[in-house]
Amino acid sequence: MTTLEKATKNIRNKGFLDIEIDKNINYVAEINRLRKEKNAIILAHYYQESEIQDIADFVGDSLALAQEAAKTNAAIIVFAGVHFMAETAKILNPTKKVLLPDLNAGCSLADSCPPADFAAFKKQHPNHLVVSYVNTSAEIKALTDIVCTSSNAEKIINSIPKKQPIIFAPDKNLGSWIIKKTGRDLLLWDGACMVHEAFSIEKILNLYAENPDAEIIAHPESQAHLLKVAKYVGSTSGLLKYVQTSKAKKFIVATEVGILHKMRQAVPNKILIPAPVDDDNCNCSECFYMKMNTLKKLYLCLKYELPFVEVDTELSKKALLPIQRMLELSK
Ligand code: 13P
Ligand code: SF4
Repeated sequence: MTTLEKATKNIRNKGFLDIEIDKNINYVAEINRLRKEKNAIILAHYYQESEIQDIADFVGDSLALAQEAAKTNAAIIVFAGVHFMAETAKILNPTKKVLLPDLNAGCSLADSCPPADFAAFKKQHPNHLVVSYVNTSAEIKALTDIVCTSSNAEKIINSIPKKQPIIFAPDKNLGSWIIKKTGRDLLLWDGACMVHEAFSIEKILNLYAENPDAEIIAHPESQAHLLKVAKYVGSTSGLLKYVQTSKAKKFIVATEVGILHKMRQAVPNKILIPAPVDDDNCNCSECFYMKMNTLKKLYLCLKYELPFVEVDTELSKKALLPIQRMLELSK
């Protein structure tokens, strides 16, 4: 069996490579060499490990990453994020190779919306337009009229005529937040993100009592009771911008801890406190899926051009339309 065949088998079977690697390898130098040689671009989400963010060509929130994927001229896209993000990049670039360092990097929110159940739900509400969050599978996108992300959801809902009934899926927390912001009556799917639902409102309020000079800031995937006490609610890029523009010197940050890397670089003199979670024995504010990608897997996927994301051609065509509508509305 060739090394490539072995790598393919390992990746497909186990989601990782147990290939022997020179223990003195310099991953950063090798990744730099390979991306140049192969004309590859590395796109990374803010929740990735710091070393991956540092080597990426572009780091952003899910909207900015989709926009970047839509305009790149690179031959290969290496997506350091989770599966739905790489899948969106593949739908936008059907002829390009889109690599995901670990194919098992899923998303609890996307998993909370199984396509068959959602199709039945949609059938019960034939007059409704479907707006779904980008954190969904291609199958859900194919059942969607307009895709949105946390940074453009409000704008997209406001672009739809007021009389038009809307199903909003799959995140009930983001949906409830958008109902509050727009005054619209959205029909919500009952999905959620396990990372953002793990925050403890009690511990956050205790922390705030000890740090009254801090501002609580939160991602809209968090629960309503937390969003109610937050000074600012926004997407990952919104939160990053907020710590730079606010006059406050201290923040309690309620989103996945990976965002703190870019925040620390942007505001080295401010104090950033990760919001505490309910379970003291769990690193629940780390997205287990986002953290599946490592520098070693990034190197291996660039070297072997595996694993790559595949989307059925017909499905891809159907899923492309609502993504394009989102990109159009986000200009
Ligand atoms: P952003 O759209 O803010 O990047 O959020 C993506 C995500 O997965 C949040 O959990
Ligand atoms: Fe999905 Fe939540 Fe992880 Fe974001 S943080 S990728 S919504 S599981």
